[in-house]
Amino acid sequence: MCGIVGYTGGRPAAPLLLDGLQKLEYRGYDSAGIALLTPEGIRMVKNAGHGGVMALEILAGKIGALPMAASAGIGHTRWATHGRPTDINAHPHLDASGEFAIAHNGIIENYMPLRARLRAEGYVFRSETDSEVVAHLLARHYSGDLAEALRGALAEIEGSFALIVMSSRHPGQLAAARRNAPLIVGVGAESEFFIASDIPAVLKETRDIYVLEDGEMAVADRAGVCFTDFAGDPRPKTVTRVTWDAAAAEKAGYDHFMLKEIDEQPQALRDTLSGRADKSGVIDLGIAADFFADVDRVAFVGCGTAYHACLVGRELLEQWARLPAETAIASEFRYRQPLVDARTLVVAVSQSGETADTLAALREAKKEGARVLAVTNVVGSTVAREADEVLFTWAGPEIAVASTKAYTTQLEIMALLAMFLAARAGRLAAERSAALLKELRSLPAKIEDILARKEQLRGLAAGLSDSSSAFFIGRGLDWAVALEGALKLKEISYIHAEAYAAGELKHGTLALVTRETPVIAVATQRTLYEKTLSNVEEVKAREGRVLAVTRAENKELAAAADEVFFLPPVSDDLAPIITVVPLQLIAYYAAVRRGNHVDKPRNLAKTVTTE
Ligand code: F6R
Repeated sequence: MCGIVGYTGGRPAAPLLLDGLQKLEYRGYDSAGIALLTPEGIRMVKNAGHGGVMALEILAGKIGALPMAASAGIGHTRWATHGRPTDINAHPHLDASGEFAIAHNGIIENYMPLRARLRAEGYVFRSETDSEVVAHLLARHYSGDLAEALRGALAEIEGSFALIVMSSRHPGQLAAARRNAPLIVGVGAESEFFIASDIPAVLKETRDIYVLEDGEMAVADRAGVCFTDFAGDPRPKTVTRVTWDAAAAEKAGYDHFMLKEIDEQPQALRDTLSGRADKSGVIDLGIAADFFADVDRVAFVGCGTAYHACLVGRELLEQWARLPAETAIASEFRYRQPLVDARTLVVAVSQSGETADTLAALREAKKEGARVLAVTNVVGSTVAREADEVLFTWAGPEIAVASTKAYTTQLEIMALLAMFLAARAGRLAAERSAALLKELRSLPAKIEDILARKEQLRGLAAGLSDSSSAFFIGRGLDWAVALEGALKLKEISYIHAEAYAAGELKHGTLALVTRETPVIAVATQRTLYEKTLSNVEEVKAREGRVLAVTRAENKELAAAADEVFFLPPVSDDLAPIITVVPLQLIAYYAAVRRGNHVDKPRNLAKTVTTE
């Protein structure tokens, strides 16, 4: 996720673009840049953050070097996916002649074959990004009309994009296009237009907005703005008047970042999967095959939510690849003289990539000669840099302290890694792999189905928000999800919540179950269903209140429970990726009902850099 802005009008563009980028910093902040159209050609400044100074702060110090008379340009604030956060990888990107500039948010899935082909044709690449291909494609397709050149480029690229492009051959003109990434056009005073990823970027200047749909393009200059589809046919559009205040706009109208991030999960999952597997079931993790040679054990390490993702990773890996695997809470790992050696693969999972405990575990593992694979959401983070190899989740910045979209994308990476290692071990047939991938691709729509039933979840949360204690139970993968559900509930609602392997409850904890204790029973695993059902009966016999999160066909459980939330159909193995979503929403609505500060819960920090 990145932020892009464009401006064309009668005022100096540089300060307007910088201001827009500052408003979009929540979309990405590891590097930033601005390019302007001037009579002498395109002028550009761009940089990554350095030495603890934020990228945009450094950029702000540089814009004085740009010609203030320039009244059209584009800007970008980056959250790196392809290519580290460096000055060169910062956007905008230019073609080799320097006549075309682009700012891109999204992922160009087929950038590798495109780059290879363009290189063979003589185009010289400067950056490691997927986005740079678009600048060269523009130059390649250009024959006098910028919009035509953009259409030509769009016909070649696969993936998601919000793009703003410009050319020194077309002073004052910006062209933009969208597919699976947000883009708006703001109409300013006296023939000026703003283009941006999101409304906050333009709110200071205008409240009159056109929202582009997937497959639409806009071309703006001082004469006006016109909208077409990618074939060039006109698209009628109407202006929307935005009434949000600036703070609400940053959250796209949501009350909290957490809810926004819960809603972003379908797209985050699509992005994280993109380019990593083909339709026939072959997984390409972008890691050389010999990295995994001779691995005979896997240890997953992480903290909190990331640790819960590790639990799912271990289960899938053991089931699919039959490879011995263990999980460790990172803060425990280093102190117990872990049994790792050169044949152990240590998978360090961390959204931020800066968690001190996870870093310490990673360093301990390396000291013992293990090879370390990081799973992280932040390109350029310490975990990413110190690991031998990295698999990035492409969830975009996660701002709410309670992790949601980072967790579901971590689970998706866990599934891909387990599939990859199982296929390597000859234990995953191509047809099974293709079927699993097909299902992974279907999960965003299933999450959308759950998100459409928020009101039911709000009602269920109301039923438990006055409780002082709650239990989550489940077996197998459901237990892993129950642990995450309990963590979500306690950290933002401050209701004491514990998760138990359902069969373990009767070994002591059942003594705490009364009429006042809600028990959330997670039951998706078919082979374990009867057993979980018995555990629910045990709770009911003690007058406990049961909320079941389960499959529609589990009629006995639905009848035994006081309340039930049905999940869309899903396989047992991939169920955790969707099952956690109702639990996130129940925690969210319970916290809102209790009047808590949802995005910044008490005593917690987003990045925990102390051991
Ligand atoms: C809970 C939560 C934390 C983090 C943990 C690890 O919602 O966010 O439990 O998961 O602090 O953080 P990362 O993943 O950044 O290493």
